[in-house]
Amino acid sequence: MSTNLGRFITFEGGEGVGKSTQIHRLANVLRRRGHDVLVTREPGGSLGAEAVRHVLLSGAAEEFGVRMEAVLFAAARSDHVEEVIRPALAEGTVVLCDRFMDSSRVYQGVTGNLEPGFIENLERIAVNGMIPDLTLVFDLPAEAGLRRAKAREGKDASPDRFEKEELATHEKRREAFVDLTQSEPDRCKLINADQTEDAVALAVLSEVEAVLEPDGSTEPARDRKA
Ligand code: TYD
Repeated sequence: MSTNLGRFITFEGGEGVGKSTQIHRLANVLRRRGHDVLVTREPGGSLGAEAVRHVLLSGAAEEFGVRMEAVLFAAARSDHVEEVIRPALAEGTVVLCDRFMDSSRVYQGVTGNLEPGFIENLERIAVNGMIPDLTLVFDLPAEAGLRRAKAREGKDASPDRFEKEELATHEKRREAFVDLTQSEPDRCKLINADQTEDAVALAVLSEVEAVLEPDGSTEPARDRKA
C-alpha cells in the first residue's frame, strides 16, 4: 500500500477571481475535519522560489523576454515541488496551492506566445511527476476580475507585472483556462467564480470531497494502479 496519503490540489484562473479567499476557507473546513493542510502559492512557496518570485513580479526579468521569465517560473516551481510539496504529500498532508503549472501554460504559453514544446519540456522538468490530483479553475469575466484586483491593490499594493496587461490579454487567458479544463476534464474542474463567496465555497468543497473521499479510498489518484 502507498504511504503517500496526501492530496495535491491546485487553484488556477485569472487576476482577482477569488482564489486566495477560497483557499483559506477550504483550508479551515478541511482542518476542522481533521486533515493536515498546507496552503502554499506560486511563484514562491519555498525559500528558493520566494527569492525568484520577487524578480518575476517586480518586472525585473521582463526586459530579458518571456522565455527567460518562463525558465524562472520553472526554476521556482522545481524548488517548490522538491523542497515543500513532495515532502508534505509524503506525510499525508493535503496541499492547497495558489497557481501551479497551468499558470505557466496560459500566461507564458498562450499569452506569452512561447511554443508549446518549450513549455511542455519546462513543465516536465519542473513538475517531475507531481501532477495535481485536482485543479480548480476559477472562471470570471476578465473585467470583473481586474476590478476586484484593483480594489485589493487600493488597500495593500500596486499592480504587479502581469496585472498591468491589457483587458484583451486577460480575456484571452480566461479562454485559455476554459480550454485547458475541457482538454483535461478528469483533473480540471471549472468553478463559476461569478457568484456569492458562499456559493463558490460550496462548489469548491463538492469537487474537493470527490477527490478526498471518492469511494472511501485514501490512496491518491496518481498512486493508484490502473
Ligand atoms: P500573485 O500576486 O501571486 O497573484 P494572483 O493573486 O493573481 O495569483 O501573482 C502571480 C502572478 O504571476 C500572476 O499575475 C500570474 C503570474 N504567473 C505566471 O505568469 N506564470 C506562472 O507560472 C505563475 C505561477 C504565475
